[in-house]
Amino acid sequence: MTEVAHHIDDVCRSFQANDDRLNQIMTAAVRHLHAFAAEVQLTHDEWMAGIRFLTAVGRRCDDVRQEFILLSDTLGLSMLLERIQSTPGPEEGNHGSATEATESTVLGPFYVEGCAQVENGASIVADPDTGGEPLTVRGVVRGPDGGPVAGAAVEVWQVQPDGRYDVETEPGKRNLRARLRTDADGGFWFRTVRPVDYTIPVDGPVGEMLRATGRHPWRPAHIHFSISAPGHRPLVTHLFDAASPHLDGDTVFAVHPSLVRPMDGTCEAEFVLPTA
Ligand code: BEZ
Ligand code: FE
Repeated sequence: MTEVAHHIDDVCRSFQANDDRLNQIMTAAVRHLHAFAAEVQLTHDEWMAGIRFLTAVGRRCDDVRQEFILLSDTLGLSMLLERIQSTPGPEEGNHGSATEATESTVLGPFYVEGCAQVENGASIVADPDTGGEPLTVRGVVRGPDGGPVAGAAVEVWQVQPDGRYDVETEPGKRNLRARLRTDADGGFWFRTVRPVDYTIPVDGPVGEMLRATGRHPWRPAHIHFSISAPGHRPLVTHLFDAASPHLDGDTVFAVHPSLVRPMDGTCEAEFVLPTA
């Protein structure tokens, strides 16, 4: 064994928690972190730059802004977790669900709990100055067996035509978000405006990272959905506008072809909840 391998082994063996999962996570994190530093032959200056960057990320977090999650999103880690959750693993019990379930995506930072309940057919445009192209969205929620799920709660939220979420323009503002309930056939529908492509918040260290690495901050136009029903695992996903020029370059890597829909005037989709 080399001296470096001995060193890594020593660190890994130091984790002696009663919780096996905690030991597994800590030893794997150390092994990969050490392998990364060894692979790139990390210098002291680079190590310090990394420490400064992570410190800045922490300082940019507050009750409403979570820069660490934004970092996870832009490094593709958040979507990796979604893919792991929806792919059956080598053993039972990894929360894997049937392949027919609708692909899940990141929740994102603009979800607001407890938004207003509206009737099917209502408009979710609360601000009369919203502007934008009218859009009608119709959806059906199905269980893993394909049967309709009546009474499911469907939360929807999307960016305004000015490229900003309601809460970005004013903290207490509520526009283009609502909660609906599916009817006896699992259906729901609402009126809104066509979503637009927009940039994620780039006024913090994550924005600096994107600029320094030659990456753009754009997300393709989408509508967010969070669907829950008793007896089912919830589903968090998006529908993307087929006309968006950024479908091939989402800065948080959330696009899946099965979630892309035409959005010129009407948009229709079925959502299959994951296996419990
Ligand atoms: C969003 O779609 O709202 C979003 C997701 C991840 C990072 C930033 C924004
Ligand atoms: Fe979004």
